[in-house]
Amino acid sequence: MKYQASWRSPSNIALVKYWGKHGQQWPQNPSLSFTLSSCHTTMTMKASMGNDAPSVNVLYEGQPKPTFVPKILSFFSKLNHIFPWLKQTSIEIDSRNTFPHGAGIASSASAMSAIALCLMDIDHKISGTSVDLNASWWKTASEIARLGSGSACRSVFPVVSVWGKTESIPDSNDDFAIPWADQIANHYRNYQDTILIVSASEKSVSSTAGHAMMENLSYAPARYAEAEKHIKELISCMATPFAQEQFISICESEALQLHALMMCGASPYILMEANTVSIMKEIWRYRKETSVPVCFTLDAGPNVHVLYPKEYTGKVLPWIQSTLLKYCAGGQYILDEAGQGPQKMD
Ligand code: PMV
Repeated sequence: MKYQASWRSPSNIALVKYWGKHGQQWPQNPSLSFTLSSCHTTMTMKASMGNDAPSVNVLYEGQPKPTFVPKILSFFSKLNHIFPWLKQTSIEIDSRNTFPHGAGIASSASAMSAIALCLMDIDHKISGTSVDLNASWWKTASEIARLGSGSACRSVFPVVSVWGKTESIPDSNDDFAIPWADQIANHYRNYQDTILIVSASEKSVSSTAGHAMMENLSYAPARYAEAEKHIKELISCMATPFAQEQFISICESEALQLHALMMCGASPYILMEANTVSIMKEIWRYRKETSVPVCFTLDAGPNVHVLYPKEYTGKVLPWIQSTLLKYCAGGQYILDEAGQGPQKMD
C-alpha cells in the first residue's frame, strides 16, 4: 500500500533562546519564539508499506540529498512506539525551502515540523480516520516535532509559541510547546522580521554541538536562570504595546547571550561575521537617532533578524535598503513577519 501527505510548515525565530538540552531533547530552559511566515518548508511525503526495514530517500530542491538521511532515520527511530508501521516502510521525501538551508535560519524547525505533520497525516490515512486539526492534533504534532529538533516544536502554532516548563506559565511543558498568540497585544501579532543574509553558507558548528557544549559550561546555571527571568519579563511586556523598550532590551540581550555562550566553551567558536557586528551597531545608531523601535535578534548563525512593528515599515525598510544591504551577501534579505503556522497542502 502507498500513502501520501503534503504540508507546509514555517521556521521560527526565538526571542528567548533554547540553548542546552537533556534526555529526550528536553530543554534546559524555557524559550519563546515568533512563528515566521515567508520562511517555510513545503514537503510531500510518500510511504510505501511492506518492506523489511525502514528506508528514506530525500529530494531537497529537486536534488537527491543523502546527507539528510541519517538525521531523519534517527528521528524515525524515536517514533516507533507512535508509528509502528514506520519499521516496515520506505519513505520518500520531496522538500523545498524558501530560504537557505543551514545558514542559521532554523531550517531544521520547518523541516522537522513538516515531517511530523506528514507522518501524523499518513498515520490517519493508514487507519482510515479523518484528520481533525484540533488542539490535540497540534499538541501531538509539537511533541513529535520536538524529537526531530527541539526548536521545531514551536513551529506548529501561529504567531508566538512557548516551549519548556516555567514557573511563569502554569501549563507550560518540556514535552511540547504551547500556543501563546492569545496572550499578546495586537501590536506583536504582525511583527516584522527582515532577515539580512550576511552569509548563506552552512554554519561551521552545528546546533547539536552547541547544545552539547553547555553541559560542561560553568556559566550554564546562570544562563538558565537568566532565560527563566527573561521569559517572565517578556510575556508580561508582550501583553501590552507599551513596554517596547523592555521588549527590545530582552531580544538583544538574548541574541548576544546565545553567541557569548558559543565563545566561552571548551572549544570556543564564533558564528557572527564582521558584517553581523556592523549591522547590530547600525541598528543601535539608527534607534538612538530616530527613536524608531527597531531591534535585532540572531539565531545560531551570522544572519541578522531585524525586528520592528508593522506600522514602522515605511520608515525602516527604506533605511535597511539604503544602509544595511551593503553588509549582506549579494544584497540578499528576506521580508518576513509573524505568521499563521503550518498548512495542509492536499
Ligand atoms: O532546535 P535545535 O536543536 O536546532 O536548536 C536551535 C537553537 C536555537 O535556534 C539557536 C535557539 C532556538 O531557541 O531556536
